Amino acid sequence: MNPFDSLGLRHDGRTLWVLDQTRLPDAEVWLDGSEPAAMIALIQRLAVRGAPLIGVAAAACLATFAERGASATEYAAACAALRAARPTAVNLMWAMDRMKPATDPVAEAQAIFAEDIRLCEGMATHGAALIQDGEHLLTHCNTGGLATAGIGTALGVIRRAHEQGKRLHVYADETRPLLQGGRLTAWELKRLGIPATLITDSMAALLLRDGKVQRVLVGSDRVAANGDFANKVGTYGLAVQARFHDVPFHPVAPFSTVDLACPNGAAIPIELRDAAEVRGFGSLRWAPEGMPAWNPSFDVTPVDLVTSLVLDNGVYTTEQLKAGALCDGSAS
Ligand code: MRU
Repeated sequence: MNPFDSLGLRHDGRTLWVLDQTRLPDAEVWLDGSEPAAMIALIQRLAVRGAPLIGVAAAACLATFAERGASATEYAAACAALRAARPTAVNLMWAMDRMKPATDPVAEAQAIFAEDIRLCEGMATHGAALIQDGEHLLTHCNTGGLATAGIGTALGVIRRAHEQGKRLHVYADETRPLLQGGRLTAWELKRLGIPATLITDSMAALLLRDGKVQRVLVGSDRVAANGDFANKVGTYGLAVQARFHDVPFHPVAPFSTVDLACPNGAAIPIELRDAAEVRGFGSLRWAPEGMPAWNPSFDVTPVDLVTSLVLDNGVYTTEQLKAGALCDGSAS
């Protein structure tokens, strides 16, 4: 592999390195993700996470595995195992379906990496045009450079608007239960110097009621053919609140997140994670030991609650999405 570098993923020509996102913001620890078994474990414990980035990371891992002499049988088995590492983010399946038949896995992985950067730029251009000077924005989970190979999806849009000189303020949901907003988005916003305030998820409704937020921007792990989309749990509640308070709500995603094989949101598989993540965090537990808990990692927002979807090639209104814009080729 040619060396490459992004905020959460690096290749030095021999080894693939993953920034352990579970250690952020306090420590920047890079782990070896060159072997498929190691990469699967890193993806499953969210050391590497975010829909686009797990596709890019799995592709780079597979290319490194091939370069190190994996047989065709070993390559195919690793591809299938990586593909199944997490069920909701379709970018992982999309990347593995490209890598599976690739005659030159290294070139394919490098193309996937470069393409993700370009897709982020496309989303940033189209999304930033929606944002007006002086707006206060609300976002959920982490959708920035840590979640992609480029500048991000929803957070990339916000970053671009900030770079354009628009005066913005970002409210970042902490994002229970794994705190991607409180740990990762807060870390990125501070590094970028974007004015921001951290809130707990349950405070968002108050901000929306009080007119303190002019726009909500979120990422997506899978967009169904009709425009329904899955994203980090809590997104659906935010969409309901935004609609109630008449605040524009935009998912932001690259075409690699669109899954035309899913007719609607009901067909999107939702990852259920360990109940222990709801009972506590890290070594800290606040619920009684063994307390039953439910932990869906994602929820589905119906297209009717979407003001418009920002894709890498343009912005699509609810009406366009409902009329089949994702299926008829006008959005590809
Ligand atoms: O469980 P995670 O942290 O991988 O969930 C990430 C999200 O929900 C993001 O919003 C999504 O992947 C889109 S971001 C580019």
